[in-house]
Amino acid sequence: MSTPASALSKISAVSKRGASEFAADVRAGLSKPRKELHSKYFYDDLGSALFEAITHLPEYGLTRADERLLRVHAPDIARLIPAPCTVIELGSGTGKKTRSILTALQPPSGRLRFFPIDVSADALARCAHDLADVAEVHPLEQSYLHGMASAVAERKLGESLLVLFLGSTIGNFERSCAGEFLRNLSQCLQPGDALLVGADLVKNRERMLAAYDDPTGLTAAFNLNILGRINRELGADFELRNFEHQATWNEPERRIEMHLRSRKDQTVSIAEADLTVHFQSGETIWTESSHKFQLSEMADLAGETGFQVAAHWVDREWLFVESLWTVR
Ligand code: AVJ
Repeated sequence: MSTPASALSKISAVSKRGASEFAADVRAGLSKPRKELHSKYFYDDLGSALFEAITHLPEYGLTRADERLLRVHAPDIARLIPAPCTVIELGSGTGKKTRSILTALQPPSGRLRFFPIDVSADALARCAHDLADVAEVHPLEQSYLHGMASAVAERKLGESLLVLFLGSTIGNFERSCAGEFLRNLSQCLQPGDALLVGADLVKNRERMLAAYDDPTGLTAAFNLNILGRINRELGADFELRNFEHQATWNEPERRIEMHLRSRKDQTVSIAEADLTVHFQSGETIWTESSHKFQLSEMADLAGETGFQVAAHWVDREWLFVESLWTVR
């Protein structure tokens, strides 16, 4: 099938890659009156390893809830997907939690095809290696919508597609951007194709805060690594010890925000971005938003973006939903 022109123009807008794009984004973000950096830049090889470590923290129940739901309900999910099907995953990482669903979708003959899309080459290589026994893996080191276009172009006649968007990555989008992204996604797909979205639900405030401000300091390291990455890749001289990790709950927006707070007045130069930035003591760089959802919000979001909810499964231990949508 061909991708609609409207979706393609979106894709070319997000597909320019590489160091110059990183430099331009850093420059733009740190030149704003409220300084910010895009959370996708957390995930260099060290950042991806730090995130993987976070998923083992007792305080961070999100990934375990996601895995639990997929493990328990993989057969229920598979029953609702028209066979034969091919699986695409947005932000697969190492694809650890994807195994159960791929196992449940095994065709009676031939091999299941799996297209993991991720920005981390390391994570993709591990994914291709670890899942080779359950699928024919075609890794795509691309942005989400660009990867979608590549994967969709490989669709075989009569086959349905299942797109996985797990781990509440959807929560990193501003609420309005999430809608726009999902609409673009549905436009890449055909009626009857499916999307499985994992979303973290609003829960006890202290529990949410502890998940993003663990006493072990892993989340602080994960947050600070974005400055280390700018030092390594863009020749900057951030003194990481002069910044402090901060996590807050924004009640009206229903999201956890992570910031890096300057411990003193300081000036940083970023050679490759051709930029010198001044920080006042106490000034922050906003690095991430993790939106939390109400169950009812998911159905509204599906309806507004060309999908409808086919089923959902909620983890009661750590409020989290696996929501299966089909394209209308
Ligand atoms: C991988 C985006 C779901 O927002 O919870 C973990 C990333 N940030 N700790 C999240 C993250 C801080 C995570 N996601």
